[in-house]
Amino acid sequence: MQLTADYLQNKMTRCLPLRNIVLIPGLIGKPESDKILSRCNIRSIVENLSREIAGLRSLLPLAERFREFPWQSDKGGLNSLLLAGFLIEINNAYLQFRWSKPGKDSLEPGWFFSLPREIKGHLRTAFFLSQLNPYLNFPITIPFTGVQYIFRRGGPMDKLILNSDFERLAELGQLANLILWDHNKKNNQPFPRVPEHSRFTHSMGTHGLMDPVTFNNCRRLPPLLRLTLSVSSLLHDIGMPAGGDGIKPLNPKYLAEEKAVVEVLRREPWQVFFWEIGVSPQLVIDIIRNEDRYGLGESQSWVDRIDYTADDTFEYLGGFCQKNPASPEPRDFFIGHPDALTVWDCIELVPRDGKYLTVFNNPEKLGNFLELRALNLRHIYYAPESRSQKNT
Ligand SMILES: [Fe+2]
Repeated sequence: MQLTADYLQNKMTRCLPLRNIVLIPGLIGKPESDKILSRCNIRSIVENLSREIAGLRSLLPLAERFREFPWQSDKGGLNSLLLAGFLIEINNAYLQFRWSKPGKDSLEPGWFFSLPREIKGHLRTAFFLSQLNPYLNFPITIPFTGVQYIFRRGGPMDKLILNSDFERLAELGQLANLILWDHNKKNNQPFPRVPEHSRFTHSMGTHGLMDPVTFNNCRRLPPLLRLTLSVSSLLHDIGMPAGGDGIKPLNPKYLAEEKAVVEVLRREPWQVFFWEIGVSPQLVIDIIRNEDRYGLGESQSWVDRIDYTADDTFEYLGGFCQKNPASPEPRDFFIGHPDALTVWDCIELVPRDGKYLTVFNNPEKLGNFLELRALNLRHIYYAPESRSQKNT
């Protein structure tokens, strides 16, 4: 069986254990969104429920655009945008309701029963995940990729994720010193937002994408190399200096995580860990540095990029219906190409001359991903205002 984003989002009905993780269904992907939109009038749902759910009122201006521009050819795009915003707000409202009634397990808000079936399932899954202990189960959702999982506990990987070197990553911002700017719609004043995701969630996310990729390539990759990639995907940022990317320019040679990883993994608990699971620490280091003799570091780099692009795009789009991002280009491109971040499911590791080539078997998806990444580079990572400390 081949694991694809489409399968995880739309066809998987039960949890799927996969090495250290358990993949969870219950997301709403593009085909499900289309199905909902073909049956429901999302604009009137937003308008009706906004009387009860305060968060939905922020979507009313967007719903109003249907009236202003009834002839607009982009009505399909507006529909998807409105549904995406609706899911964020309805999710918040549902969780707030359930959390406020801790003793009443099965009590759900009255408006819940008027929702389409797919959205009900989505909300109940979200509530289930919110009930898990984040320090025991580590529920992880990698936005827009179709991958959502909880960590399997009790195995050898416990020693890895509970190690203080790994836990330290939770204190490091993924986009250190970087600011996202939104524009207030009323007075058009810019206001700053600090991205929330950490190197810990990024490492867990990279791992969450790597395990399905190695699963899809299990006929070509021997078990030990699959396990090694699984470990290196979790550990690839373990040498990240305090301050993250923001501090590296001070001394790029010394503060590079590829250099520091050797210092960290030389410590005794790590040596014991590698000995117990039978993985070569040197091969893990070489993969992290993209210098390994199998060429597997290349696949690791791609999975790394896909994960942070997914997280950063989500942060950038966060509340994209209520707020106006300073530059709408990444948002507009993503709305038109929502499969860009599912590119992980077309990675093939092809043996060639004793190495593995990383090949994408869907050039269109790869092109969409690269374009989204280029837009993120221009409008987020290297936008001069993203690095500004003014007004913060
Ligand atoms: Fe990374």
